[in-house]
Amino acid sequence: MKNTMMQSLEHKSILLIITGGIAAYKALELVRLLKKNRAHVRCVLTKGGEHFVTPLSLAALSEETVYTDLWSLKDETEMGHIRLSREADLIVIAPASADFIARTACGLAGGLAGALLLAADKPVLLAPAMHHKMWLTPATQAHVQTLKQRGFHLIGPVEGDMACGEYGPGRMSEPPEILQAIQGFFGHRPLSGKTALVTSGPTFEPIDPVRFIGNRSSGKQGHAIAAALAALGAQVTLVSGPVALPDPPGVKTHHVETAVQMLKTCEDTLNSAQTLDIAVCAAAVSDWRPETALDHKIKKRQTPRAPELNLTENPDILKTIAHANKRPALVIGFAAETENLEENARNKRTRKGCDWLMANLVGQENAPVFGENHSHVYLLRDEKTLEDWGVSSKTDTAQKLAEAIAVHFSSDFKG
Ligand code: C5P
Repeated sequence: MKNTMMQSLEHKSILLIITGGIAAYKALELVRLLKKNRAHVRCVLTKGGEHFVTPLSLAALSEETVYTDLWSLKDETEMGHIRLSREADLIVIAPASADFIARTACGLAGGLAGALLLAADKPVLLAPAMHHKMWLTPATQAHVQTLKQRGFHLIGPVEGDMACGEYGPGRMSEPPEILQAIQGFFGHRPLSGKTALVTSGPTFEPIDPVRFIGNRSSGKQGHAIAAALAALGAQVTLVSGPVALPDPPGVKTHHVETAVQMLKTCEDTLNSAQTLDIAVCAAAVSDWRPETALDHKIKKRQTPRAPELNLTENPDILKTIAHANKRPALVIGFAAETENLEENARNKRTRKGCDWLMANLVGQENAPVFGENHSHVYLLRDEKTLEDWGVSSKTDTAQKLAEAIAVHFSSDFKG
């Protein structure tokens, strides 16, 4: 497969501002990824940022001078804060600390980064990173809203473990995701004009108003696929079950709870679109639901023994989409298999009527899937070959799948 990622940032100049926060160490990886994708990278490190990464590491990775001081006679005569932003195609702030976001929203220009941002005439992408309480506080939220209204673009933050051991929203998006968002700015958009529907996450099937049948799906894979398709220019509708993830940027997201709601939203999307080109069913749809969901909580004392649950089968969304009148040109399903991966994947592909099937090996040593960031995936594109894509992060898998879809449509077009 042609690696379009390698070419997409050639001749692009990224001005990366690194502010003070533990996520600053990830900025080193971001610089490495940007350079690998042939971008020109120039770094500005704030005083806070210098506590976490050194100018030397950034200079070594970016192969450029690193700027730290507004009042440096040498830097100001050689480059100057106005030229720093003028020579960039995109300004990225990663990590963007709560303090830096507040200063930027107030237009403070006491440091080099603040001064160049005030003078900037380029798009700015902000990747916030902070403690979840600092993120959720009304002050930070108001500052973020202000910046959004001024046209700043935002990626993340995501929910996860904090450096302090607590859990919540505030973690900086991972460097590959930030890279993807950066690529999105520069028109590597082979899927522009294509429409896609993606299902993601689990479904919750109510037993009564407080209890439900669900599963451990995190939605990470489906959400990453929606984001990757959008980054390549597709117009994406995501139908998501209950997840603890932010809506992917640039994606129209519908939130549902049950399989029946998920199917209805998918069918509405299919019927209202002129054509839908791509459907990726990554949701872990509950196979069954309670026949009737009670409208009151089942009380333990009212029932002498454990209540019986009568289950009924849920509709198969993938199968329905694959057999619809307005069937998308490319329908992709997922399968989690514990054994006989190849045979089971082939049978599932035929049974569901989808074109491609991404299969995961689950329940084996070193093969985590649900909720994890990595998985071992295989792609079955036809009856014959099962491609082993190896173990990779869900974002990388999503990127690779989106690229494969783009190649599929471009060869379709030529052929
Ligand atoms: O049958 P199984 O659950 O293993 O099939 C997995 C694939 O089918 C996934 O792509 C999943 O999103 C889809 N599916 C669905 N609706 C269901 C069950 C599964 O869309 N009710």
